[in-house]
Amino acid sequence: MSPLVSDYLVYLLQLAGGKRAAMESSLARQRMGDLAPWIDLSGPQRILDLGNGSLRPQYALLRAAGHRVVGIDLVNRPARGWKPAAYGVLRRVFAAHAGIGAAAMAADGLLSGDVSRLPFADASFDLAVSSAAFEHFLDVPAVLAETRRVLRPGGVLWVGIHLFTCPSGGHNVSFTQYPLRSLPRGAEPWDHLRRQRRPFTVPLNRWRKHQYLEAFAREFDVLRCYCATREGEQWLTPALEAELSAYSRDELTCAHLVILARKPPVTASLKASQGAAVPAPAGLLGVPA
Ligand SMILES: C[S@@+](CC[C@H](N)C(=O)[O-])C[C@H]1O[C@@H](n2cnc3c(N)ncnc32)[C@H](O)[C@@H]1O
Repeated sequence: MSPLVSDYLVYLLQLAGGKRAAMESSLARQRMGDLAPWIDLSGPQRILDLGNGSLRPQYALLRAAGHRVVGIDLVNRPARGWKPAAYGVLRRVFAAHAGIGAAAMAADGLLSGDVSRLPFADASFDLAVSSAAFEHFLDVPAVLAETRRVLRPGGVLWVGIHLFTCPSGGHNVSFTQYPLRSLPRGAEPWDHLRRQRRPFTVPLNRWRKHQYLEAFAREFDVLRCYCATREGEQWLTPALEAELSAYSRDELTCAHLVILARKPPVTASLKASQGAAVPAPAGLLGVPA
């Protein structure tokens, strides 16, 4: 059995045992702390989840906290068969462990679509979030330009990225160890940046930290950028560090990069020249019927 196949069994056990719910709840608390100086989350906010995923964990946790959340993902398209049915069960297990009601998991806030072409009116959201999805977006500049457009002036963007340059950044060693502690038999650390013997199994943009920061800064005021989780320091020998000298130690060991950014607020002079407040979005969050 390949390590990635056995990982699916571990994934199920982690979900069934509540580990995944605990991890996602902890991520939600971390994000709340990061956002506290910039947006008041004690009242309901209009939130967009970019790449909500089949389990939709953050979409559900944000809805359970009383926010109006829209999730957009290619996987939200209607589908039949064993996989959507299995995810239905997994979501119920997740909700039970996370202590949230089934209503928070409901699909009524989900849209199937490409995050680089958002089907929302300008200024529809107060906050956009995204977790473990940006590294899969193949046109990051388009996603950022669209996110800026659909955020209100002063609206905030919180993004967690599984950074390509970390040991698990090729998404081909394990998706259940967080952070990565052991490599599959025969695998070498940072194989994806070296000989690339292990094939990639999912689309990845291969972006480095500086590329994200530059792209975010073109559209937003970057408020904060930090590494939330490190991995692989034990494998970074002086010989390997020399071989991978094109990368900094920081980016080689950062498994979870967080970027917090804000769409510039409308300044007093801009407001006066526009003569009016930002128009309200049409309909519920500007989502087309
Ligand atoms: C690793 S999953 C993360 C899902 C979720 N945020 C989570 O933490 O469980 C990445 C998601 O990004 C979605 N995705 C990738 N490219 C996309 C695109 N261009 N438009 C919409 N969704 C996309 C995939 O379908 C996938 O569900």
